Amino acid sequence: MKIAVPREIRADETRVALDPDACKKLLALGLEVAVETGAGLAANFPDRAYQEVGATIAPDATALLGGADFVLKVNAPQARPDGTHEVDSFRPGTMLLASIFPTRNLDSVQRLAARNLTAFSTDCIPRTTRAQAMDTLSSQANIVGYKGVLLGALELPKYYPMFMTAAGTTLPAKVFVIGAGVAGLQAIATAKRLGASVTATDVRPEVKEQIESVGGKYVGIDLNQGASAGGGYAAELSAEDKALQAKLLAEHCATVDVVITTALIGGVFAPKLLDEAIVKSMKPGSVIIDLGADGGGNCTLSKLGSTVVVHGVKIVAPLNLPATVPTHASMLFARNLLNFMTAFWDKEGQRFNLDWTDDILKGCAVTHEGKVVHGPTLKALDPTQGGKA
Ligand code: NAI
Repeated sequence: MKIAVPREIRADETRVALDPDACKKLLALGLEVAVETGAGLAANFPDRAYQEVGATIAPDATALLGGADFVLKVNAPQARPDGTHEVDSFRPGTMLLASIFPTRNLDSVQRLAARNLTAFSTDCIPRTTRAQAMDTLSSQANIVGYKGVLLGALELPKYYPMFMTAAGTTLPAKVFVIGAGVAGLQAIATAKRLGASVTATDVRPEVKEQIESVGGKYVGIDLNQGASAGGGYAAELSAEDKALQAKLLAEHCATVDVVITTALIGGVFAPKLLDEAIVKSMKPGSVIIDLGADGGGNCTLSKLGSTVVVHGVKIVAPLNLPATVPTHASMLFARNLLNFMTAFWDKEGQRFNLDWTDDILKGCAVTHEGKVVHGPTLKALDPTQGGKA
């Protein structure tokens, strides 16, 4: 089976779907791997590193995709600057594994179905213990939390740690993390390691202990309805609970130096939690790092992909933060893909086992046999339907 790894064409992308180490392990399973020239360069994996482990280097993306049985990518296929679309280079029947975010990329999904491709999205993999090693949401969110804290440190006109010097003592910065999933917990731990005083909140009550275990102080509200949607995902709050939470956020944000938001609903869309009134109540010089930016932003004043200063508060809303740590982000992403491929690769028969009874395979399949087969995506395409594949 021929695996193809094209160069990502998203403008701000520096990651590659397969690093040379994971490539070597796929080759050892008996798969052939071809990598587009320069695909790993921005992540510091030159062509020769792939050649050294036995992969071939393909000069042209169109020929590479057209000759593949299975394509590994970071992002959903998209239009190239010359107007052609990546999907049109695939042979019908080809399989694809990538972080498609299907509900955010409906056009791409419809093209995948129309081209009769079998596409799996790593961000839709069910959250089970067995699937953990394949979960790109977690591996990449960890980077987002870490890098978000560093961005906060760079923008804050204060130190994070307490310093006792001959000239006087500086108090530790107060960092408030909203949303304590994978990114949020990493943000708490990183800010703590840098010496900040850290508080955090979430709407899933079970995270209180997790916040405390990484050094944060939990600030919470007693919600009227639980907001756990199962599988670690949060549901949207009721109007009543939203009002309760808004009150807590307004009170707490006014007392801190850095607010780091990481809240997502269903792992995809960012609820709007910080409005202008909250921003206005914050101390001059304080900073908001909106890590929900890829999902639309947690702050109503965020300018996605850039930085604005409003009422003396700096609001940073970075997009695609994992791409700012491309070597490790690619390495971990590649490991996730390798674990997926290994789980379904029949080494004896040298074939990919399309086992539709498997909860992981079924859960992350987005298109198959000309149809969209992913419930939430079907629902996003046609909200009047129940999302049944
Ligand atoms: P996520 O990216 O979907 O959401 C981030 C956080 O935002 C969540 O903790 C969520 O509860 C919180 N949130 C949503 N609305 C909020 C609001 N209005 N205010 C404050 N916070 C709000 O979640 P993530 O980070 O992907 O994972 C959440 C959980 O799932 C974690 O406990 C993680 O360990 C678990 N998980 C398990 C996996 C597995 O077992 N295979 C894989 C990935 C995550």
